[in-house]
Amino acid sequence: MTEPRDRGAPTPCYITTPIYYVNDRPHIGHCYTTLLADVAARAHRLMGEDVFFLTGTDEHAEKVSGAAAERGLSPMDWATQNADRFRAAFKFMGFSNDDFVRTTEERHTSRASAYIQKLVHSGDIELGDYEGWYDPSQEEYVTESVAKEHDYHSPVTGKPLEKRTEQNYFFRLDKYEPWLKEQIESGAIRVLPEARRNEVLGRIRQGLQKVPVSRRIKPGDADWGIKMPNDPEHRIYVWIEALCNYLTVVDEPGRRKYWPATVHLMAKDILWFHAVIWPCMLHALGERPPGTVYAHAYWISEGRKMSKSLGNFIEIDRLEAYAEAYSLDALRWFLTTQGPLGATDADFAHARFVEVYNADLANGIGNAASRVGNMIVKYFDGIVPDAEGETGFTTETTEGHGEEYRWDRIATELVNRAVASCSDVRLDDSLRAGLELSNKVDAFIAATRPFSIAKEIDKGTHEDPGRGRRSLETILYQSAEALRIASLLLWPAMPGKMAELWRNWGCSPLRDPVDPDSGFRAPLSELAAWAHPEWGLKPGSVVTKGEPLFMRADPKAPAPGDA
Ligand code: MSP
Repeated sequence: MTEPRDRGAPTPCYITTPIYYVNDRPHIGHCYTTLLADVAARAHRLMGEDVFFLTGTDEHAEKVSGAAAERGLSPMDWATQNADRFRAAFKFMGFSNDDFVRTTEERHTSRASAYIQKLVHSGDIELGDYEGWYDPSQEEYVTESVAKEHDYHSPVTGKPLEKRTEQNYFFRLDKYEPWLKEQIESGAIRVLPEARRNEVLGRIRQGLQKVPVSRRIKPGDADWGIKMPNDPEHRIYVWIEALCNYLTVVDEPGRRKYWPATVHLMAKDILWFHAVIWPCMLHALGERPPGTVYAHAYWISEGRKMSKSLGNFIEIDRLEAYAEAYSLDALRWFLTTQGPLGATDADFAHARFVEVYNADLANGIGNAASRVGNMIVKYFDGIVPDAEGETGFTTETTEGHGEEYRWDRIATELVNRAVASCSDVRLDDSLRAGLELSNKVDAFIAATRPFSIAKEIDKGTHEDPGRGRRSLETILYQSAEALRIASLLLWPAMPGKMAELWRNWGCSPLRDPVDPDSGFRAPLSELAAWAHPEWGLKPGSVVTKGEPLFMRADPKAPAPGDA
């Protein structure tokens, strides 16, 4: 099933998000996972890979037809309305997804039912009786122990569970237990973060059971969902069919090269489906399992869990208000670096937002870039000075011993760290490597005091003006070149702002400097090489001052979106 690949063709990379229930309005949680996927996709594109980034909507849930009926709409019209909301939200967030799948599309329904048919043929799906606790609010069965633990109420919504007995088709998950255990234990399938992997392995060791993959159509049921191909009395259980989206979308000429998925991203709520059921289904289908399954934790809001009853979901209007007040890229930065990427939940608190905004952006990269740009404008009429091949600098202190800045090494180390963290989906750390490089420039300027050197030269008090001038040139070239490299590492989270900086400094690595999505002219390994003859900052090129990238924020100002 694999297509021949060109030698020397860029490495394919396939990144997915869950497909979101079309009944909910998009909120911070959906945006967060999709933002992580966007940051990862951008980082991998920057590294020169051939990325396919997929998101979309899950539309065949029973709830959809009910909600549509309440509104006097057809299920499809209701689904379309809401799918469009997700699309609009993702556009606003600046996501660069390569496709958006809706499970009601023919490309999905036809292929998903073909996969199920194949599993019926191979005996991996079989008919049997099923009795269990069904959670109608979540459209899933819960195990006896979970049902008991929650006093036979939904662990998610608190609504009563129903005892259901059905004749169902089952997927023989039990058959694949040894295979799956080996895959996860050996790291062939990486389940991340580590804490989640241990949980999953713990549960697998308790034994895998067959899972229902269909439900019988009852009289009066809306005509909604994909029918079992061999038995139209049954409908494919929405979860099983939804998982297939990852494959249906790339199961066509030209896209096969993206399989298997590099990383499936989601939150911890749906890890079991992705780390256990899906890889076994794929194995049964003769398809390769995903490389990494990554489940982050949850966003909570001002210290409280977000829920329908509390009505405290952070929705798109709130995110838009933040983007309006502080810029979209600042919002993206905050969410990616402060979000629940690891195993612990994260709080969306306004005070924290302002703190991070000021520290990392206004006083961090923003200030460093303005300072360096302004000094080049002031002392060199905006012409990038020449460091004459110097890749290091030793600062001088009044006591006579200085600190050595080996910029080529410092930059290489941080670039390597960013790349390594990215492949472990530690995107926050990957971005932080960029910020560290920028902070290093701040420290360098504080230690070398180029403004004092310039003042002394100007006033005629410098003991050796020629040497002073050369130091000034070297300090400013190195600071600007280090910031240029830092900006590449920061770009995946802040594509708009970094493109703006590149335009001001005349050093854009983008095919089209005004379009942050136009692709890079070279891979990161070349772009981030210190003083690269083609991609490095060129002595003699022109730097313009430009607007500050991030204005300082007043911590006392009211939170955006608050009435
Ligand atoms: N439709 C299924 C997924 C099928 S994938 C084959 C589904 N949809 S959902 O709309 O409920 O989306 C769940 C996902 O939304 C989570 O796994 C996570 O990616 C995101 N989030 C929803 N709430 C969240 C938070 N409070 N915090 C972070 N992300 C959360 O499940």
